[in-house]
Amino acid sequence: MAKTIKEREEGVFLPLAPMEYIPVGQVGEEAIAVHWQEEELIQPKEEFIRQANMTDVGIYERFSEENYPECFKEYADMLSWDRYWTQILDASNPPFFKWFVGGKLNACYNCVDRHLEKYGNKAAIIFAPEPEDEPYQFITYKELYRRVNEFAALLLDMGVKENDVVTFHMPMVAELPISMLACARIGAIHSEVFGGFSGKSVAERADDAESKVLITMDSYYRSGKVIDHKARADESVNQCKETKIEKVLIWERYPGKYSSSTPLVEGRDYLINDLLENYRGRRVKPLSKPAEDVLFLMYTSGTTARPKGCQHSIGGYLSYVAGTSKYLFDIHPEDTYWCLADIGWITGHSYIVYGPLSIAATSVIFEGTPTYPDAGRSWRIAEDLEVNIFHTSPTMIRMIRKEGPDEPDKYDYHFKLMCTVGEAIEPEVWRWYYDKVGKGEAAIIDTWWQTENGGVIGSNLPALRAMRPGSCGIGMPGIYPVIFDEQGNEIEKGSGKAGNICIKRPWPGSFQTIWKDPDRYVETYYSKYSKVGSKDYRDYCYFAGDGAVQAADGCFRILGRIDDVINVAGHRLGAKEIESSSGTNEEVAESAVVAKKDAIKGTVVDLYVALKPGFEPSEELEAKIRNKVGTDIGPIARPSRVHIVPDMPKTRSGKIMRRVLAAISNKESVGDVTSLANPEIVEVIKNQVQGQRESVLV
Ligand code: WTA
Repeated sequence: MAKTIKEREEGVFLPLAPMEYIPVGQVGEEAIAVHWQEEELIQPKEEFIRQANMTDVGIYERFSEENYPECFKEYADMLSWDRYWTQILDASNPPFFKWFVGGKLNACYNCVDRHLEKYGNKAAIIFAPEPEDEPYQFITYKELYRRVNEFAALLLDMGVKENDVVTFHMPMVAELPISMLACARIGAIHSEVFGGFSGKSVAERADDAESKVLITMDSYYRSGKVIDHKARADESVNQCKETKIEKVLIWERYPGKYSSSTPLVEGRDYLINDLLENYRGRRVKPLSKPAEDVLFLMYTSGTTARPKGCQHSIGGYLSYVAGTSKYLFDIHPEDTYWCLADIGWITGHSYIVYGPLSIAATSVIFEGTPTYPDAGRSWRIAEDLEVNIFHTSPTMIRMIRKEGPDEPDKYDYHFKLMCTVGEAIEPEVWRWYYDKVGKGEAAIIDTWWQTENGGVIGSNLPALRAMRPGSCGIGMPGIYPVIFDEQGNEIEKGSGKAGNICIKRPWPGSFQTIWKDPDRYVETYYSKYSKVGSKDYRDYCYFAGDGAVQAADGCFRILGRIDDVINVAGHRLGAKEIESSSGTNEEVAESAVVAKKDAIKGTVVDLYVALKPGFEPSEELEAKIRNKVGTDIGPIARPSRVHIVPDMPKTRSGKIMRRVLAAISNKESVGDVTSLANPEIVEVIKNQVQGQRESVLV
């Protein structure tokens, strides 16, 4: 018999302890959310609970440590296997974990073919173009099947083979999931680079992945402008150092009408839409692949200048995103689900493409920005398409609120569930999301996870647990988070102390390794709190790189990155990547990046620069350095401010004290600086930076 909410609550929630947060000790990202007040609980509505996919509180017991790892069979059984697996987890070579060993499957088959019989005429993807006078494109599962097959056949003829890595540099269009699924169908590995990244960023990733084929698009719309995207492809090909991109396959925004000012390079560039004429009706059998083969790479920023290629498996990844799409995002085939994230990031891979399509969802893809041409744009789409699950990031919510706080009232849409991801959400912003966007009807899930994790690892299942603004909730079923202090002691829940959040046991969605760099994988994630060398997998604990506190009821509040990674508008940027780009200016001697709090983007980048002798500071030079970062990495990485300072604050051993610079940027106390090699510089920098006008250049 179904339990009432009250009954369900008992045993799940404990009385709240007063919170007295103690920051990890740095004035960086992780200190941002620690001062928030503990919020009250809000119950999901009965209407939501009545229709939810997961209403059995017993799931937490089923996925408890006693039932680990067998519990994950429940997710694997949501997929269709060509050959059923024989071993759920092979942990004999930790921390390299293998899931569903012996099993064979195809990800494209699972996301497309198997839905044809029941849902063939239902929309799999709805493409919402940015120009409002262009019609929505409804792509049914049958149509998706046709298009994926034809493109898969084309890829085979282009010489793409099993396990080749194909690099993508695609904007938010339906052709992106079509290309991903076509690769998956033939057993090739895709590596999509966020469309807003520069040609150079694409080249670095294509080099690392040894890609010979690049898939891109001629142009797309963004905030009313037509972006000439093909130009980036030429930059990418020219800047590859180790690999030669032999073929550039170009989708056309308007098939048959090439829309880019860059000429096609004979013998290298191919217009996909032209070639597809020869593939009409072609079918390609989905290749049956071992569960542990690679589905895709997703590069992400780390603590060095070189991005890390997170390598995701087929069987484990797809099981995990299918399971979480069903139980957490509560997607039913009848729902219209819209995730505003970009497919160029992990959220889009897992929760626009693979997760939703694996469970026969209707997934909306929007080309543009939610505030263009006005802040009502998102709500018009929601109304038109009868979207009932809406997923976005705190930055988007802050932006939409700023531009149109009352816009949602004007539109007739109703969400049953809303999701947020990528950054901590301020309770006050959460409330606006709940009251205005969700009209007080929709449940909210705050989902914590990372590129490395494949799917959400910290959140409350929406029909089973109450919401608490600003807190992501507990570990997802089968995920056992723990917080350690610097010495490796476990921090008790309810103690009010912050520490480093880690995950005790591996899970199927987790990445397998860093592409071609297993040592960096072990070093980055499994050296701090693991006994490297042990053969017992229980001696390995995944270090996430986030600070967190845990309330007495078990709910986690994620405080932000504790390493040299900065989260700008929910996008991960490596401080070192930006610093090394800055250092390529001939005038620059030293660079230091810090995170500065921002009302809309959560954090923005402040870049401190010291010049080589003989060069003088100037506004032009600041602009030059700033723009160089934008060209090297992409516009999102452009610092909000460049501060040219006479010298950097340094320790006696010569280390730049970013902590001091961060305190200055955020107008916080710099603390005791007497032990620095040059304490007098702190006051000079402080006067310079805090005396400047408070404008943020974007
Ligand atoms: C941050 C995005 C607070 C966190 C899926 C993490 C969050 C980084 C949340 C990963 C959340 C993600 N609350 N912080 N709900 N979700 N983060 O790899 O610092 O782009 O380490 O993956 O975003 O960013 P990534």
